[in-house]
Amino acid sequence: MKRTIRDLVDLEGKNILLRADFNVPIDKVGRILDTTRIIAEIPTIKYLVEKGAKVIICSHLGRPKGYDIRLSLWPISLILMKYFPGKVQFSHKTVGDEVKARIESMSKGSILLLENTRFHEGEEKNDTKFAKELASLADIYVNDAFGVCHRKHASIYGVARFLPNAIGFLVETELNVISQALQNSRKPFVAIFGGFKVKDKIKVLKNMLSKADSILIGGAMAYPFLVATWKSVGISPASSESITQAQEILLEAEKLQKRIILPIDHIAIRANDRRQRAFVTNTLEENMIGCDIGPKTVELFGNEIRKAGQVIWNGPLGKYEEPKFREGTFKIAEILANSPCYSIVGGGDSVSAVNKSGKAKMINHLSTGGGATMHLLEGGSLPAIDVIQEGLE
Ligand code: 3PG
Repeated sequence: MKRTIRDLVDLEGKNILLRADFNVPIDKVGRILDTTRIIAEIPTIKYLVEKGAKVIICSHLGRPKGYDIRLSLWPISLILMKYFPGKVQFSHKTVGDEVKARIESMSKGSILLLENTRFHEGEEKNDTKFAKELASLADIYVNDAFGVCHRKHASIYGVARFLPNAIGFLVETELNVISQALQNSRKPFVAIFGGFKVKDKIKVLKNMLSKADSILIGGAMAYPFLVATWKSVGISPASSESITQAQEILLEAEKLQKRIILPIDHIAIRANDRRQRAFVTNTLEENMIGCDIGPKTVELFGNEIRKAGQVIWNGPLGKYEEPKFREGTFKIAEILANSPCYSIVGGGDSVSAVNKSGKAKMINHLSTGGGATMHLLEGGSLPAIDVIQEGLE
């Protein structure tokens, strides 16, 4: 077990560099659309503040190419201020003498949020100089940025080599919940996959076949699987590469005697309909594009979920960002929320869909990780966790 912040002693007056994942969805003018990741970080910050540490927080936001004011972390400091009134300051610089002077003048139990780490070239290159500059700001490094633990970047990976370190509460919970779900699954274990890019999820699906009892596939991911089982998908996306990968998965499932359950009806539109009217259909004919799972599929998937002991869900089941195609995803969120099983939802889009459906509070664990959760589900390890010291146990 990795060292956690509970194992750190004498934190009063210590400078703690806390890596958070404040990579939240924002609109074109920089307004924050979902605060899940910020709220998930509050317990760790609160703990460090109450211990009297000087809490220096860093994070990335988006994928900027150099400085970009729309991706400044300043709006995030405004949210933190609501939780820690009078204790939060924002630094327009990420590293350097000016930041050091600010830290010097901080009082115990206060917070300094640093500017976006990705404004620095050295961040994504895991540049040693940049990692050392970050390390020089603090006495201890705490990784609580679960969503980015699959990256080998300076502020999440490189810096850990230059400071005593530990994980925060959020990372601890995520690792415990996901490893528990994979190693001691409550049965029947049902995995739900949606979204697109079978390619990105192929390893996860393979690993899941050995763990889950059944796998439900919806969203754009379902079309290559439908083609591979001789169903027509109209002009819904299904590349030859993804069809080959779907065939591989289906063969593997047969060998392991695991069930892969695919949609039996769809909400579709016709390519030549300028008004893009949505309708229900059992078969996707030549000119049709599937955009959501249909009501019979909701029932079919629902029956599996209601009988499950544990469900892991990654990826929306339709184009949920458009109101006319969100019914399937929302209904499944509702069924999952009302089922007795232990439920885990992971991935940015799935969590945002569940939040929009209003059922988030009834899900047992909403994972803040997208790629990081996928890495764990694939059976892989997370480099930014591997570099953290072991605990005393
Ligand atoms: C995420 O949102 O998955 C993490 O914050 C990582 O972001 P990235 O994919 O831009 O590295």
